[in-house]
Amino acid sequence: MYICYICSKSMDFSFRHKSPSGDTGDASQAGTNKASKRGILYGEYLQLDKIINAQELESVKKGNMVHDEHLFIITHQAYELWFKQILWELDSVREIFQYGQVRDERNMLKVVSRIHRIAVILKLLVDQFAVMETMTALDFFDFRNYLVPASGFQSMQFRLMENKIGVLESLRVPYSRKHYRDNFKGKENELLLLSEQEPTLVQLVEQWLERTPGLEPDGFDFWGKLNTNIDIGLRGNYAEVQSKPDSEEKEEQLEELNRKKEVLTALFDEKRHEHLLSKGDRRLSYKALKGALMIYFYREEPRFQIPFQLLNSLMDIDTLITKWRYNHVCMVQRMIGSKLGTGGSSGYQYLRSTMSDRYKVFGDLFNLATFLVPRHWIPKLTPSNHKFLHTVECCDSSYFSSEDSD
Ligand code: HEM
Repeated sequence: MYICYICSKSMDFSFRHKSPSGDTGDASQAGTNKASKRGILYGEYLQLDKIINAQELESVKKGNMVHDEHLFIITHQAYELWFKQILWELDSVREIFQYGQVRDERNMLKVVSRIHRIAVILKLLVDQFAVMETMTALDFFDFRNYLVPASGFQSMQFRLMENKIGVLESLRVPYSRKHYRDNFKGKENELLLLSEQEPTLVQLVEQWLERTPGLEPDGFDFWGKLNTNIDIGLRGNYAEVQSKPDSEEKEEQLEELNRKKEVLTALFDEKRHEHLLSKGDRRLSYKALKGALMIYFYREEPRFQIPFQLLNSLMDIDTLITKWRYNHVCMVQRMIGSKLGTGGSSGYQYLRSTMSDRYKVFGDLFNLATFLVPRHWIPKLTPSNHKFLHTVECCDSSYFSSEDSD
């Protein structure tokens, strides 16, 4: 019996609810507790005895317990667990690409979902630094010396992640003039070497893009048609500007048009592309770049919708890893200023140098925006091409460019 505070009447709330079957039992207590039955239990299944007991504070061992060291350990462990999940997804996607299963378009949904999942995890990891930042520099100072020479630089999973996505070994910033792999011994070193030799995500995506339907010169010939349309479009632009009376504005418009022409003409300069590739300024082959641009232009066609989402998520990954680096370096500066890192690097200075585009893998996809042209310059699909891109058959092989292509 309860007294209502508003009307002071006594009320009878028996907390008995009707179960879905109509019984007037306590529904919240329905069911049987199966924990007493045979089978695996929560703690066993998750091996919590290992995880929950894996926080050994160095400060405690030294007889000078520092409260925040617990947070420091838990945060790093949470990062490593998520790195592990990212590697799990990355390996599965690479496998789908590698063994040709991507030919079956139904697998593309799997690829896109998993790549998107990686991006969502990375977003979490970017934000997770906020928890670490609740620790002050002075709190960190209290236990920092106990950690030497441990450092995030020795995170094998982070390196595996970078390698498997496609960070180029030759573009890495040296670490105190040493190769990054020198910090890893035995099995870890072997795994890292292997990850440098296996096909990376960017290479597999490149091969897939090269098979984009519509690129065949003896078929739809997207590239040839685009080249012609851009030529006609630019000539139209020049004619329009040149027909205007002489003025400063006309000069400016002509200059702008010249710049536009230069950019768009460079797109069709394969030699220039090869040169940029050799310097590491481009990562995708010329053919793959054509495929990516085609997906960009025809992204509304049903067959290109999922590929377009994939390209977007790949850019998300690049952006989020850059944001991770940025948040990390900001936190590091706040915690240690310009002191050397516990791993022995110059600390903030070293980390700041890793913020460059050298660590970006899908820069070519970002760069595609440079080459976007007015909609009416985009080659019109032929009826058969349109039908092809419009129909999504299950288990088809639209990414075949020829019978014997892999
Ligand atoms: C108080 C917090 C932290 C500080 C002061 C800090 C400091 C540093 C410093 C100075 C370096 C450069 C290498 C060295 O000389 O040690 C480094 C590298 C690194 N740290 Fe942290 N870190 C912190 C938190 C974290 C967290 C939570 C992670 C998550 C796993 C992490 C992962 C890494 C990674 C992966 C590298 C290598 C980056 C690269 O070489 O590109 N750090 N850290």
